[in-house]
Amino acid sequence: MQEKEIIIGFSKLSKEQKIKKIASFCPNSDEIEKELKSFWHPEIAKQKIFDEFSENTISNFFFPYGIAPNVIINGKNYMIPMVIEESSVVAAASNSAKFWSTRGGFHTRIISMTKIGQVHFTWAGDAEKLQKHFPKLKQLFLEGTEEITKNMQERGGGVLDIELVDMRHEIDNYYQIKASFDTVDSMGANFINSCLEEFADILKNYVQEEESLKETPVQIIMSILSNYTPECLVEAWVECDIKDLEGVDPDITAEDFAWKFEKAVQVATVDTYRATTHNKGIFNGIDAVVLATGNDFRAVEACGHTYAARDGKYRSLTFIELENGKFKYTLQVPLSLGTVGGLTKLHPLARFTMELLGDPHAEDLMQIAAVAGLANNFGALRSLTTKGIQKGHMKMHLLNILNNFGASETEKHAAVEYFKTRKVSFSAVADFVKEIRK
Ligand code: MEV
Repeated sequence: MQEKEIIIGFSKLSKEQKIKKIASFCPNSDEIEKELKSFWHPEIAKQKIFDEFSENTISNFFFPYGIAPNVIINGKNYMIPMVIEESSVVAAASNSAKFWSTRGGFHTRIISMTKIGQVHFTWAGDAEKLQKHFPKLKQLFLEGTEEITKNMQERGGGVLDIELVDMRHEIDNYYQIKASFDTVDSMGANFINSCLEEFADILKNYVQEEESLKETPVQIIMSILSNYTPECLVEAWVECDIKDLEGVDPDITAEDFAWKFEKAVQVATVDTYRATTHNKGIFNGIDAVVLATGNDFRAVEACGHTYAARDGKYRSLTFIELENGKFKYTLQVPLSLGTVGGLTKLHPLARFTMELLGDPHAEDLMQIAAVAGLANNFGALRSLTTKGIQKGHMKMHLLNILNNFGASETEKHAAVEYFKTRKVSFSAVADFVKEIRK
């Protein structure tokens, strides 16, 4: 095993050389090499696609691809693909889907589809003069990006508005060009960033050449989309008569469940510690769908959490209404997703996901992902407010624990049978395995 050194030119090495290099830092380098290669796709052409998604690729990292069946959304039945490593997430979504399938299913609506990009710049001149020139500049921005926006406009999108935002109260001489976009079925990052960089060049040149502005130059700080898209918003909800919640759990009445559930949501609204976990459960579902479609889950998460803190305090993304004997539970979440571009057509399984979802438009996918989030959250609260989370979770986690002990298929069968009526814990499983191997 080699001491770790600074590696010069790692990116220039071939894939084989990279693997050898990395393996040489491990005590069992031959085994590591074999292990890394065992996760390569057997078809060279397919493996090449994965290799080219990213840089310095040496292997693939597998995640399970599962299905939550029978998810009724606005009366249509979906099989929702979910990519997630955590046990019990797919089960929770599936159980919620089953529960709501006999109570009207999930309902959704798109509230808005606008995305934002900004050019951040400084200018030390007279603000009024810049404001006066802005209508002209705006015209030049639109004309100067016609080549970039042509296709998007044909698809029904494009630049919606461009404004000059005076930010000098925050930082000396700081302004933004804040532009809003409709990127239709694409997530739109490349489109937005290309437009913004063009705006920045146009602004710089205009100020340089315009007599009344050129006394001080524009300094472009940066041009980039914002991943905060509060105006790209979707709502998903479930509703039924409170009495129809009967059967949600054998040990609780419909009324008591509704009361407890409402309290649980109120807690997540007022307490940041609980809100974080509550929203994490929502993103269990959303991220799993986002990953299965090859969309950018980091952008989706960052945006969702910012939205959860939009009034200055981090709160639950869901809210509940109990009125006139009705139960209505709603998730509102910004989701900037694409069904064209990015990995959506390149990753073979993302492509399959789209097929299975009926080749959705971005608006459809937003609604599907939001439903997965709500389904997971409902499932979590249902367990938390009744039998507790560990019973179901540990049952699902049992196979992971058994795998830790290298259990055989026979041992696994025996364990699943044994723990049907017993509490699963790491030590209980350890004792069981020890006993059965005697
Ligand atoms: C675990 O991944 C998610 C939960 O903690 C969510 C929640 O507490 O609402 C169960």
